[in-house]
Amino acid sequence: MTDVSTVAVIGAGTMGHGIAQVAAQAGYAVRLADAVPGAVRAGLERIRANLEGGVQRGKVTAAERDATLARIRPAADAAEAARGADLVIEAATEDLAVKRALFAALAAAAPAAVLATNTSSLSVAAIASAAARPERVVGMHFFNPVHLMKLVEVVTHPGTGAEARETALAVAGRMGKEPIVVLDSPGFASSRLGVAIGLEAIRMLEEGVASVEDIDRAMTLGYNHPVGPLKLTDLVGLDVRLAIARYLHAQLGARFAPPALLERMVAEGKLGRKTGQGFYAWTGEGTA
Ligand code: NAI
Repeated sequence: MTDVSTVAVIGAGTMGHGIAQVAAQAGYAVRLADAVPGAVRAGLERIRANLEGGVQRGKVTAAERDATLARIRPAADAAEAARGADLVIEAATEDLAVKRALFAALAAAAPAAVLATNTSSLSVAAIASAAARPERVVGMHFFNPVHLMKLVEVVTHPGTGAEARETALAVAGRMGKEPIVVLDSPGFASSRLGVAIGLEAIRMLEEGVASVEDIDRAMTLGYNHPVGPLKLTDLVGLDVRLAIARYLHAQLGARFAPPALLERMVAEGKLGRKTGQGFYAWTGEGTA
């Protein structure tokens, strides 16, 4: 297993800033890079705000906040961040061409490092094949918001070496996460199961099996899910769910065919919380 003391995070957006934060809170020296000017500074501000919230709630001491921020160093670009790092976690835009170009550059800048991608839907193998040593490439799929969500999917493609897998597991554990090991396959474990339940709930609504509220109660009260599948679809966004369903349909077959109701609601602009109307009517932060 690679002994990790320095972690480079590539991409300082929604996921990258959170990954940089939990890495620094775990005691790693962190380098943060982004392709867009000002993005690293914005990411650092979000980290500062998260930590400040933790201080307000008594979860983080002022000393921990300051030490965490002091461990994160901005880098001019991905290659500079990766140079000398033991682990690189890529959280750049979800685009295969962008990620393949990055992994070729990262492998050249840090030939001994383990290289992880936070992709939520792309093939880890397709990303890894752009790196000089694909055996050092693994998926580390974090969840949003990173500082609160416990799960990390450690995604192994057929060529992932034991060292890369064990390193990813150990680092996720030190970050306070609970990693699971998943084979590189469409939707990994989390999206595949979550979307399957969501699509079935929509089909049940189409068939008149039960009301929106009662379908959700079947899961919250009967299975202790914290949120019902229809409300969760509203929170994620119906358009986002439809895009994933179409992808899984193409990859895994008929059981992921998007229900007509989902297609219709997206066409009508009923995208869930962000548009005020989905399976529920939304006002501000909550349902009407
Ligand atoms: P985002 O758009 O908030 O951030 C991506 C950042 O990457 C941007 O700041 C962009 O400027 C930067 N970037 C693009 N190309 C770059 C390059 N060549 N070098 C350095 N930086 C570059 O996107 P988000 O949501 O943080 O997603 C990042 C990755 O995490 C994607 O692969 C996404 O699928 C995955 N993901 C997203 C989740 C979410 O809920 N948003 C959940 C789990 C995974």
